Order: sequence, then structure tokens, then C-alpha cells
Amino acid sequence: MAESVNVLVVGKDQVDQMAIRPQRAHDELERRVRERTAELERANQELRRRNAELDEFAYVASHDLQEPLRKLSAFSDLLARDLGPELPEQARRDLEFIKDAARRMQVLVQDLLALSRAGKNAMKRERVRLDACADRAMEMLSARVEEASAEITRDELPEVVGDPTMLTQLYQNLVGNSLKFVDPHRRPVIQLTAERVRGEWVLGVKDNGIGIKPEYAQQVFAPFKRLHGRDEYEGTGIGLAICRKTVERHGGRIWVESEPGRGAHFRFTLGDTMETESCEGITIRPTGS
Ligand SMILES: Nc1ncnc2c1ncn2[C@@H]1O[C@H](COP(=O)(O)OP(=O)(O)OP(=O)(O)O)[C@@H](O)[C@H]1O
Ligand SMILES: [Mg+2]
Repeated sequence: MAESVNVLVVGKDQVDQMAIRPQRAHDELERRVRERTAELERANQELRRRNAELDEFAYVASHDLQEPLRKLSAFSDLLARDLGPELPEQARRDLEFIKDAARRMQVLVQDLLALSRAGKNAMKRERVRLDACADRAMEMLSARVEEASAEITRDELPEVVGDPTMLTQLYQNLVGNSLKFVDPHRRPVIQLTAERVRGEWVLGVKDNGIGIKPEYAQQVFAPFKRLHGRDEYEGTGIGLAICRKTVERHGGRIWVESEPGRGAHFRFTLGDTMETESCEGITIRPTGS
């Protein structure tokens, strides 16, 4: 049986056309990528501008709120003194409530001020040994470590580019949380972790405390978000929001891996390649290597 053969006859013009088409598609694709990249850059700039505006607003608002709050507290004292023994017992108790509310609001306002400062203060970009930052943070927490009989271990921490004060505060906030949210049935064990993952350093603080439900893993980084009442654990819920600001200003990201009852591992990157003149050419390596 004869086999049938299909022959396609193609003219020279068509051959030329076929060669041109992939080139056009490639050019078109490149043009679109360029457009999208420019759009993204514009959106990023807009976001940065809005974030800066928000930090400025939070700074001014919290700064200006301090004075009326101080007055509220001071005049409550004056009122109690002016009325002296004539002040009825119930009114004295009411005044105490006013003073207590003013005190709590002062703490909130100060925390908001600290958060806005973390976003707007000038930031250093220098070679930093994370080990030195962790040492300083541990010094500041030493009384609490002793009180909790916590065991603290540390991976070999790298040298990075960043702001030493901000990075020290980052460790202080994270280890401080690990010392606070402890499981009452276990001795606290806290590890400062460092791992090289796909070419970047993933750092972290891991504990064996009460842990966090997965549905709250994002929310805990929002300002004033707390998962417990004031009577259970003290604090205002600003620590992790400051941590996020610090990490993002270093060009990194922060997240938590956790299971309730099995501890939490707060992890962060610091953006290995920070493109500023002062740090170009600096290589980031583990200390001691
Ligand atoms: N290591 C941890 N283990 C379990 N829960 C945690 C841990 N760290 C934080 N959390 C939860 O996330 C919430 C937010 O933490 P964050 O540090 O912002 O606030 P805080 O410690 O309550 O107060 P502040 O830091 O302002 O003193 C905490 O209230 C707690 O519910
Ligand atoms: Mg905290």
C-alpha cells in the first residue's frame, strides 16, 4: 500500500514572515515587561510615600497627645487635693479611674511614638556583627532570663549590613516575647537561629512557649494586636509591629511559624543586597569564617 506524503510548499516571502514573527513577539514581550516593571516601581514609590506620610502623622499625633494627657493626670491630682477631705469616697474612686485611663493612654501614645520613630528615624547602613547585637540584647534581658531560668542557645550568626541599634532592639523584642509567652509546664528554651536558604540568610528566634494559632500568624505584626488580655500578660502589642518595620527597612521580611502549645519560631531576612553607595561591595558572611 502506497504511503501518502503531505508536502507543504512554502514561498520565500512566507519564510521571511515566519522568521520575523518570533522576533516581533519577543520585542512585544520585552516592551510589556518594561511597562509592568515601570508600573510596579511607580506603585512602590507611592507606597513608600504613603508609609512615610503615615509615620509622620503618627509621630505628630502621638507627640501632640502627650501634653493634654499629662494635664488630665495632673489636674485629677489637683482636684483631689483642692477638695481634700470634702471629696466623697465615690468621687475619689472615679478620679482614680480617670488617672488610670490617662496612664494607660500615655503608654499607648509612647508606643505609637516609638513605632513611628522606627519608621522615620535616619537609619545607619554599616557592617554589623549580629552576634554583637544579640549580646547587647541579652545583656538587657539578663534579669528576665535568670528569673525564668531560661536556656538560651545560639547558631553561628552572620555579619550583615544594617543599623546596629535597630537590630539589637529586634532581638530584644523577639527574645523578650519568648521570655514572656512561656509555657508554665516547661523550662523556657530559646534558640537564636541562622540558616542559609537559597542564597540568603534566614535568621530567627525560636522558643518552646505557648505558641500562636496559624490564623493569627499575620495579625500579630499589626500595631496594638494582642492575643491575650492585659491581666494575663503585660504589654501593649507594639513590639512585633516595630520588629516588622525594622526588618522591612532593612529590605527583608518577617513571619512566624508556630503551633499552639508547641512554641513559636519568629523568622526574618534582612535583604542581603542593599543597594546604597556605602555598602556596595560589602560581602556578607558568617562571623568567624
Ligand atoms: N513568642 C511568642 N509566643 C507566643 N505568642 C507570642 C509570641 N510573641 C508574640 N506573641 C503574641 O503576639 C502578640 C503581639 O506581640 P507584641 O510583641 O507585638 O506585643 P506584646 O508583647 O503583647 O506587647 P509589647 O511588645 O508592646 O510589650 C502578643 O500579645 C502575643 O499574643
Ligand atoms: Mg512584645
